[in-house]
Formats: sequence, structure tokens, C-alpha cells
Amino acid sequence: METVDLRSYGGQFTADPYPVYAELRARGPVHRVHTPDAGDLWLVVGHDEARAALADPRLAKDPRVINGNSYDEEFFGPHMLLADPPRHTRLRRLVAREFTPRRVEALRPRIQEITDGLVDAMVSSKDGGADGRADLVEALAFPLPITVICELLGVPDLDRASFRAWSSEAVAPTGAEAELAAFTQMSAYLDELIEDKRRSPGDDLMSGLIRTTGEDGDRLSTAELRGMAYLLLIAGHETTVNLISNGVRALLSHPGQLAALRADFSLLDGAVEEMLRYDGPVETSTFRFTARPVEIGGTVIPAHERVLVALASADRDPARFADPDRFDIRRDTRGHVAFGHGPHFCLGAPLARVEGRIAVRTLLERCPDLVLAADPGELDWLPGMLIRGVRSLPVGF
Ligand code: HEM
Repeated sequence: METVDLRSYGGQFTADPYPVYAELRARGPVHRVHTPDAGDLWLVVGHDEARAALADPRLAKDPRVINGNSYDEEFFGPHMLLADPPRHTRLRRLVAREFTPRRVEALRPRIQEITDGLVDAMVSSKDGGADGRADLVEALAFPLPITVICELLGVPDLDRASFRAWSSEAVAPTGAEAELAAFTQMSAYLDELIEDKRRSPGDDLMSGLIRTTGEDGDRLSTAELRGMAYLLLIAGHETTVNLISNGVRALLSHPGQLAALRADFSLLDGAVEEMLRYDGPVETSTFRFTARPVEIGGTVIPAHERVLVALASADRDPARFADPDRFDIRRDTRGHVAFGHGPHFCLGAPLARVEGRIAVRTLLERCPDLVLAADPGELDWLPGMLIRGVRSLPVGF
């Protein structure tokens, strides 16, 4: 099969990958590609094939299947996105005992309070003589999820600037040396945190994870706790930042949709789902691996290959969503894969949804004149195919 060279599209593929995905989908649901940053691999671009692949036990998550290793596991410990059953089932069961819908619901007033504080600070900068412009990433999209995930885990005093640097190295490394330094520092930090929580436990999630014991007396080891804390911190914030900024960008670029939402906030939950479908924060899944040849959508992927599911492509597949490039907050978004699908379906989806809904509603209510203050062609996009979003989003209010 011919290999498609995604590098030939240059920076345009990062700024707007959707036309490329449309072209690929028109040619078939599965392709072998050269990626800009992750070498050669297989990419699933059709919606039905993506859902099937995400739930397919023949596509393993443990890199040892292809004799690979993982920086994550080396530095932190095993975690759910590197694990298959029974290891995955066990880790997920233990965390699910603590990361419950009740814990997320209990956070709601605090999420509103944090959001109010951030939006207040942004709006009052105008009264203080600023010109009614702000970077929405800096003012709200970045600080909200990181504050929430830190409070949830019980990490109130985390040095935000260091964490921001570590975290962005983990999802979009700037170089081998910087990545190594970030991982070393973060791993030492998490060791200290776990020790701290063992000495003086609280009612936070991390203390809960240390305490939690399955019905059979099973508990998480220190390496597993470190791996879990790492995964929750990274997954809990790199993504939600871009739900807020991509979502607000989509709304502000579609004045009719924005007006409809302002006029009727009962459309809010659907609007957030459409933001996830239309321009979700996770462009491709994490890696999956073939132990043996696997046929997907008529294509046989050989043994020992890496596979990515292009969630962003699946969610624009016209075979599933009519007129998929239209942003329509009233559409039926069921079946979108912005949170993945199958056994690795996002553990934090309920939390992300609460944060997204509160952020968008509060922002619109407090800023009746909110507009984009940047030419869409000049936005600075995050590199790589994993996370889709901009580094900053200038808005006027
Ligand atoms: C809008 C925000 C979010 C999006 C779009 C998102 C998306 C995803 C996706 C696509 C996956 C599956 C990846 C794969 O199968 O390769 C996933 C897994 C996961 N997410 Fe999220 N996520 C978000 C927020 C969060 C939050 C807030 C948390 C935690 C507080 C979280 C924790 C996790 C964890 C732990 C997994 C791994 C689950 C497993 O392997 O069983 N995510 N997420």
C-alpha cells in the first residue's frame, strides 16, 4: 500500500488538518502514513472503523507487544493508556472506586468559583485601564483545568509554571533533552507528593488512591500510584484547556450559533458536545500496536506496527455526521469519539464536561460583547498530531 506523506502538507496540516483527513477518507478508511513527528504508522480515518478499532482487543496498548518501551513507564510507572486486560482492568477498577461521579459532582461549586474568579480578573483588567483584550488561554482555558485537577488530586501548592513546562513536554516534546529533564523533575515531584500523602492523608483523590483497596485486598503499588498521578495530571489538563479554547473559537467564528446559545442556555450541553465533535482537543488517539496482522476496513495492517485512530477525522466523517464541516450546536452528536471509545474511554469525561459547560456559560454571561481579536490565519498552533489547539487565543470583550 502506498504511504501517504503527511509532511508534504507542511504547517497547513497542523493549522487545519480537516481537508487532508477528508481526502484520506475519500480514498479509504485506513492508510499507512509518514507523520510529521512520529515516524511511519497506520492511521484509521473512517468513523465506523475508528470506533471498531478503539474497541478492538487485537490492537494492544502495551508497547511491549512490539518490543517497545515507554518513557512514561520508565520514569513514572505503569498506567492505563499503556495497559491491556487484565492489567488495565485492574488499574481502571481501582481508580474508578475513587474517581466517582459523586466526587466530580461535589467539585461543581468549586469549579464555578474558580471560573468566576478567573473571568472576574479578566473583565476587571478592562476597568483597570487595559483595552478590553485578553489571551483566553492565559486568562481562563489554562488556569481553570490545572487548578481543578490539582485540587482534585490534592496538589494545592504545585508550581504552575514548572508543571506547565513539564506537561507540554509530555504531549509535544521540543527535544530529547528537554523531555528528559521534564520527566526527571516531574517524577521526583510525584514521589515527594505520594510520600507526603502517606504521611498526612486528606480527603483528596491521591489520598483516596493510596488508601483504596479492592474487594480482594488488592492495592496500587508506589510505581502504579506515580503512573496514575502522572496520567491524571497530564490527561486532566492538556485536553480541557483546548476544549475551552477550541470551543470558544468555534462559537465566536459562528455568530449565528453564538447568538442561539446566548438566547437559550438549555442548548449548552449540546453545544459543548458539538465543540468536542467539531474541533475536539485530542486529534488522534494514543498508540495501539499489532501483535499479529489485523484487518480493519479491508486493509491488513501487518504484525508489529503502530496504529493511531484519527478521532478528528472520524468526527468529520460524512458517513456518520451529515454536513460534518458545519458547526451546529443543535445537531445530534451521538457517536462522536472525542473522548475515545471502548475500554480506554476517557475516565475524566464527566469532569471535562462540567468544566467546559461552566467555562463557556460563565464567559458568555460575563462578556456580552466577546469577540475573537485575531486573524484565524495568524494563530500559533500546538505542534504534533496528539493535541489540537492554539498557544494563545486573543479575544476582545
Ligand atoms: C475535553 C477534555 C478531554 C478529552 C477530549 C479527553 C479525551 C480522551 C481520549 C480520546 C482518551 C482515550 C485515548 C485512547 O484511547 O488512546 C482519554 C483517556 C483518558 N482520559 Fe481523557 N480527555 C479529557 C479530559 C480528561 C480529564 C479531565 C481527565 C482526568 C481528570 C482525563 C483522564 C483520562 C484517563 C485517565 C484516560 C485513560 C483511560 C484508560 O486508559 O482507561 N481526561 N481521554
